[in-house]
Amino acid sequence: MKSGIWHKRFRRPLHPAVRAFSDSTVDDRRLVRYEIMACLAHVQMLKRCRILKKVEADALLRALNALMIRHKTGKFRMKNALEDVHINVEKAVKKIAGPIGDKLHTARSRNDLIATDLRLYARNCAKEMIKRLTDLRKEFRNQARRYARAVIPGFTHLRPAQPITWSFYMQAQVSKFERDISCLKDALKRVNVSPLGSAALAGTSHPINPGMTARLLGFDRAAANAHDAVSDRDFIAELLYVCSQIAVHVASLCEDMIIYSGPEYDLIDLDDSISTGSSIMPQKKNPDLFELLRAKSGNAIGNLCAVLTMLKGLPSSYNRDLQEIKPVFIRQIDESLKCLEVLTVGIARIRVKEKDWIDQPSFMCATALVDHLVQRGIAFRRAYDLVADCVKKSNADVYLFMQLCAKETGIDEETVRRNLTPSKLTGLG
Ligand code: ARG
Repeated sequence: MKSGIWHKRFRRPLHPAVRAFSDSTVDDRRLVRYEIMACLAHVQMLKRCRILKKVEADALLRALNALMIRHKTGKFRMKNALEDVHINVEKAVKKIAGPIGDKLHTARSRNDLIATDLRLYARNCAKEMIKRLTDLRKEFRNQARRYARAVIPGFTHLRPAQPITWSFYMQAQVSKFERDISCLKDALKRVNVSPLGSAALAGTSHPINPGMTARLLGFDRAAANAHDAVSDRDFIAELLYVCSQIAVHVASLCEDMIIYSGPEYDLIDLDDSISTGSSIMPQKKNPDLFELLRAKSGNAIGNLCAVLTMLKGLPSSYNRDLQEIKPVFIRQIDESLKCLEVLTVGIARIRVKEKDWIDQPSFMCATALVDHLVQRGIAFRRAYDLVADCVKKSNADVYLFMQLCAKETGIDEETVRRNLTPSKLTGLG
């Protein structure tokens, strides 16, 4: 390959199989915009630091701006033969600006460029994720408002525990996903650091100003150490961890929706527009959407493990292994964004079934009865034992349970009934 940038040093061209194997352009397509942004900031800095003459820098800036327009209008196609986004952009600039294009790579390296591109990309991804999570939160709040008074059984160990409102359950989801938003915001602090100016690993002898490029690219600061900055992919591992945490939250919520919509629980109804049927059993209405979302957590956790394993034991500074992290990261962010979007659609299409069980006495309110006894002055453990004994003797018959409770505690049956009826209870979660 004669058109590359490093082949002068070699006597023979790269074997086609090796060239194809190490090609980075396919994944780099996502990075073109960020590469050009990084180039623009770098050239402006070179100009202000007088490393490039004004006319030289201006010519490069014009070429880069022209290239950005070509990219945005879909007219810039990368060539696989040019290995990666960095060589493709450098060559394109040279084609537009002429021989001055040879000055573009002054005081930089592909190693600090790829780290910069990835951080700009990751910053954008994290912000997109926050937006999707905010949309999802809105839908939880809509549900909470729509079914403010709907009561469902609250479960522990997947067994009926205490009645709660649908609204309370939805607020629990808000709390979980708000933690994810806060993790992303926190991760952004570590993403938003500029590696540009680190060059290959040792910085550069040119009198550059990395703080200036950092500012121009909207980073909070320049990285402290070049040797670390070219290889630091912690921010990717961290974002993949947050993706995994989100995926785990999504999976657990979906598990609930699958269970609650099943005939045994029958608490909610999934709209036809988010349900699927069977090719052989005409009666089926399946929650495939939530099952697929539940499964996606496996991919998310796998991708986190893949990246940590690639990073583990790498010699310090840049190694080509780092290129392999890129597709994993890109794919996972795409998946996470898609999952959040489709989950938001799913949540909006859930209907809570109004049930008459909430007007009947229920064992689920046994704790409420204990609390009532405590309010009447009975010590908690004694009140608990009294009610527990009635549970034991009632043989799962709630009417017998009520009678026994009234008899054992000396409280009138009406008060016992009121305290055992979900719809009559005040202060439900
Ligand atoms: N394609 C490389 C990557 O994605 C860019 C940096 C290449 N640097 C190098 N020394 N080969 O990581």
